Amino acid sequence: MKLLVTQGNIAEQTADCIIVNLFEGVTMPGGATGAVDAALGGAIARLIASGDFDGKAGATALLYTDGKLPASRVLIVGLGKADAFDARAARKAAATAYKALAKIKGVKHYATIVHGAGIGGHNATDAAQVLAEGTLLASYRAPNYKREAPENGPALCTVVEQDASRLANIEAGVRRGESIAAGVNLARDLSNEPPNVLYPVAMARRAQTMAADAGLHCTILGEDAMRELEMNILLAVSRGSVNEAQLVVLEHAPAGSETEAPLVLVGKGITFDTGGISIKPSERMEEMKHDMSGAAAVVGAMQAIARLGMARRVIGVAACVENMPDGNAFRPGDILTGMTGKSTEILSTDAEGRLILADALAYVARFSPKAVVDLATLTGAIGVALGQQAAGLFSNNDDLQNALMAASNESGERLWPMPMWDEYKDAIKGDMGEVKNSGGRAGGVSTSAKFIEHFIEEYPWAHLDIANVAWATTERDALTPKGATGFGVRLLVDLAEAY
Ligand code: BES
Ligand code: MN
Ligand code: ZN
Repeated sequence: MKLLVTQGNIAEQTADCIIVNLFEGVTMPGGATGAVDAALGGAIARLIASGDFDGKAGATALLYTDGKLPASRVLIVGLGKADAFDARAARKAAATAYKALAKIKGVKHYATIVHGAGIGGHNATDAAQVLAEGTLLASYRAPNYKREAPENGPALCTVVEQDASRLANIEAGVRRGESIAAGVNLARDLSNEPPNVLYPVAMARRAQTMAADAGLHCTILGEDAMRELEMNILLAVSRGSVNEAQLVVLEHAPAGSETEAPLVLVGKGITFDTGGISIKPSERMEEMKHDMSGAAAVVGAMQAIARLGMARRVIGVAACVENMPDGNAFRPGDILTGMTGKSTEILSTDAEGRLILADALAYVARFSPKAVVDLATLTGAIGVALGQQAAGLFSNNDDLQNALMAASNESGERLWPMPMWDEYKDAIKGDMGEVKNSGGRAGGVSTSAKFIEHFIEEYPWAHLDIANVAWATTERDALTPKGATGFGVRLLVDLAEAY
């Protein structure tokens, strides 16, 4: 999907369809929508009067222009109530419009105004950014291994702006949105790929290719290198798999920032989680191919951060491991001692995410981070607590937590703060080892966060449990397709910009 920006009047565009918009409750369209209405002899006003179109968010109506305009169709997209119209709503409007057009075979090229930049009064750059994001996130297609090519939706979208003085800002916003959406869609691709295609080494290769294209520095540690570093907890999780574990380190360090304390992003990259010897039930086990969504979000965010040329140092670490049962696999009852020297008692080999994070987080201390944020599909319990509405946020630092909540509001990727009281540590006190890797059902989200906290050093840290938001069993909305959602990329980009 290509996005062009041009100066002109939407009504005069030659395209298979032009897109205008309407706030809820408006009876006489104004601005660009008014101009198109006038050209159509009041057809939009009559449509509203008929009650068939009310401008509600998610509503669309298609009109045929019958030669009255160069474009053969007009799609009107509802923006919802004017006072509730924000970046989130604008992104959704663009996605809704794309989805409506993707159903019409004859539309390959459409032209659109920037939702919210006119009467909405939004900043032109931001409005253009979310327009691009919404469009490109909606146009996402998962990898497909069928022999017949899938049908394609529109391939070209022209963004039209009347006011020449705003054109440069709109162009910049569209390109920003493109970089961010490409990061989200990369993360989705990685999570959607089948586990026999995307095993740890394959994931590392993809990250390496991305890094070469985007201009990031990339270092990959294999199992020998990790053994040298005594990352024995992470390596134990990998022992049942024939696929070698990989620790991928991506660095964005623009000139002058090389010695600055970096923001460090760490992702859980279990390319398939069978549960290991504590094996999972087979029903829906196939979904556990997305247990590397935290790592995918880190890789996607690093691509976006590089493409945006962000003026700060950011390091992304993807801990990629496959969790399999085997004669060589680690077991419940094992005691493991990793990089920090702290002994860990294994109760469940299915609580493997926190184990690989223990060594990955110990590893990143060497960067003397300004802050560390980890993302992990860590617990089923987070979905019991929050449903699919927000990821769980756990932090040891108020500033970082506030910055993440602000990034969450900016990006529309919701987070909700969860408790980290020290009393939760009681449940994971080990019998033979210092700590055990499962605290049982009660407070399962907080005890998993407390486990991870045992392995971090004195830097601000936040843990995002994304197990409930990384995967959608059905299409959630126009922006969120079935399968991998790419959750976290937009959030991390906003965090890296503001924190
Ligand atoms: N990868 C799973 C968590 C998960 C569940 C992710 C559903 C996405 C969707 C994780 O490794 C796991 O198995 N967690 C266990 C922890 C338990 C053994 C303490 C869980 O949540 O049941
Ligand atoms: Mn597991
Ligand atoms: Zn897992």
